[in-house]
Amino acid sequence: MAETSKKAFVTGHPIKHSRSPMIHGHWLVKHGIEGSYRAIDVAPENFAEFLATLQANGYRGGNVTIPHKEAAFAGVARRDHAADEIGAVNTLWFEDGTLWGGNTDGHGFAANLDDHAPGWASNGPAVVLGAGGASRAVIHALKERGVGDIRIVNRTLARAIELRDRFGGGVSAHPLAATGELLRDAGLLVNTTALGMQGNEGLSADPRGQPADPRGLPADPRLLPDHAVVNDIVYVPLETPLLAAARARGLKTVDGLGMLLNQAVPGFERWFGVRPKVTAELRSLIVADLVPKSPAPKP
Ligand code: ATR
Repeated sequence: MAETSKKAFVTGHPIKHSRSPMIHGHWLVKHGIEGSYRAIDVAPENFAEFLATLQANGYRGGNVTIPHKEAAFAGVARRDHAADEIGAVNTLWFEDGTLWGGNTDGHGFAANLDDHAPGWASNGPAVVLGAGGASRAVIHALKERGVGDIRIVNRTLARAIELRDRFGGGVSAHPLAATGELLRDAGLLVNTTALGMQGNEGLSADPRGQPADPRGLPADPRLLPDHAVVNDIVYVPLETPLLAAARARGLKTVDGLGMLLNQAVPGFERWFGVRPKVTAELRSLIVADLVPKSPAPKP
């Protein structure tokens, strides 16, 4: 195969809002690599065929996002340790003709905190809000980095218990009503729920009765100790209401954009052979794209 055929992709359904082409496109130009990275919309019923024809179509690999992460997990020939732990695949590549699946979301999460809150892993107990796919990646990373007390809080307690049982030692499961008590001695608070995401501002109260927080936040950062770090994995808006409240309380805050940027690093290295850097320049490029486009001026 010609050296010029360094092709990679991101697939999801829908996929047109993905920022991944912008991130990888920036790195391709930066490193002068003759390659391409494009977004491909694949409907769930066509995903198996998409995987089966990747190599014939000349792809070195790519990223997988919603709703294909579990199908990719099931569809690859081999998986890395993180993918097995998280139960989902977000990065595909070939090794000697074999299709591998990995998961770099946990790496992205931890690298983001390393960049913006060094020392975070030895800051004390971690409270994780939410028990979905994103939460699994966060818990995996927390365990890898040696956080010994991980407290999962979820509206549906049964899902938090499932994760506790999956990850084992040092992980506990709690209902929303316990949040205040759990925050009192916590060193890290991570929101993995969609609460606070643009378009979800109205989701303040738990439809099953218990408001998450009187102000509609997923938790009240005023209850945290002074040394706590607060991270939201949501990045639209960049400063979520939770982060704004934590900042007002004087706490160290880390937004979710760095997780997106850092999760892209290992994939780029596998497909294109260079380990790229998450720089202020790249971050500004994506931040500019997050700003809602102002309406076109009237003639
Ligand atoms: P993802 O894969 O992005 O993590 P998910 O699997 O749909 O998405 O999980 C979303 C998480 O946000 C869940 O923990 C969900 O709580 P439930 O398990 O009880 O559904 C949480 N979540 C979503 N909306 C919420 C709300 N209004 N209040 C509290 N938690 C909410």
